[in-house]
Amino acid sequence: MSGCSGHGGEEKVTFPKELVSFIDEWKVKQGSLIMILHKTQETFGFVPRSAAEQISQMTGIHLAKIYGVISFYHFFKTTKPGKNKVSVCLGTACYLKGGGDHIESAREFLKIAPDEVTSDGLFSVEEVRCVGCCGLAPVMTVGPDTYGKLTKQQLPEIFEKYRARG
Ligand code: FES
Repeated sequence: MSGCSGHGGEEKVTFPKELVSFIDEWKVKQGSLIMILHKTQETFGFVPRSAAEQISQMTGIHLAKIYGVISFYHFFKTTKPGKNKVSVCLGTACYLKGGGDHIESAREFLKIAPDEVTSDGLFSVEEVRCVGCCGLAPVMTVGPDTYGKLTKQQLPEIFEKYRARG
């Protein structure tokens, strides 16, 4: 199970009041774990190890079960994303126009593997399914910005722009 390793040294996160009351409200309901994990990821941008432990304590759900759910749904992340989250669309339209190559090129250029963040903390690269602008395929987003009709050649320039902003 990939979710359980490699998080030594991560700080313990503090749950904001809103998240605590959300968990209190949901923990008694059916299917609550997924809702709780969604809310946790929305709060921190990923599901930190210490958050999973706190959820386990608050809900009585075994930690192994929580990580079972996290690794089953690829949507949940266990590592902190880079400051600029790069999402390469691999939905059908984008995939057919080379999205698969783009994700490899992006990771190669930034020298990171899936689930890794660049050593300066600036970038992480993930694949997503259809971001809703198939007419612009192939599409990549960086934070709130969308790049359509993307070519491999544009990647260095795009990343440098964000790197320059720090
Ligand atoms: S498939 Fe990529 S935006 Fe729809």
